[in-house]
Amino acid sequence: MDIPHIINFSKIGSQDLGYITVAETQKDTPFEIKRVYWTYYTPQDVIRGGHAHKELQQVIFATSGIIEFNTLDLQGNRENFILDSPSKGLYIPKLIWRDIKFSHNAVLLCLASELYDEKDYFRDFEEFKNYKK
Ligand code: TYD
Repeated sequence: MDIPHIINFSKIGSQDLGYITVAETQKDTPFEIKRVYWTYYTPQDVIRGGHAHKELQQVIFATSGIIEFNTLDLQGNRENFILDSPSKGLYIPKLIWRDIKFSHNAVLLCLASELYDEKDYFRDFEEFKNYKK
């Protein structure tokens, strides 16, 4: 599915012992994982994101806390996603503008399809909106 959507990952374990969730490249993600990064200590009143990617695909988790995504595609479709469980992944295909809000204890883990490349970013909203596929 080439639209942002939640992927529910399996939880191994129990309430008594705790849980493990696993992401294996290409089996649990619709792409080969080339990069992993995480963000943390984001103040609650800060909105991050504010960009889109030309090629990058991602699966994003809130491994701790709660993270809210507002997404927008080039057809003008807006979606809201709340990551409130470490087993919930948000798949974001290429060409999706996103704004991100964090609870005070949130840790965002991202599995990414490409290495970091600043040229892959749209950081200007008008440039993104006017982009023709
Ligand atoms: P950015 O992707 O804009 O983060 P966010 O959407 O969370 O605000 O990245 C923030 C900064 O970190 C930016 O200067 C680029 C740098 N960065 C890297 O150097 N490598 C990476 O893999 C990532 C994701 C960011």
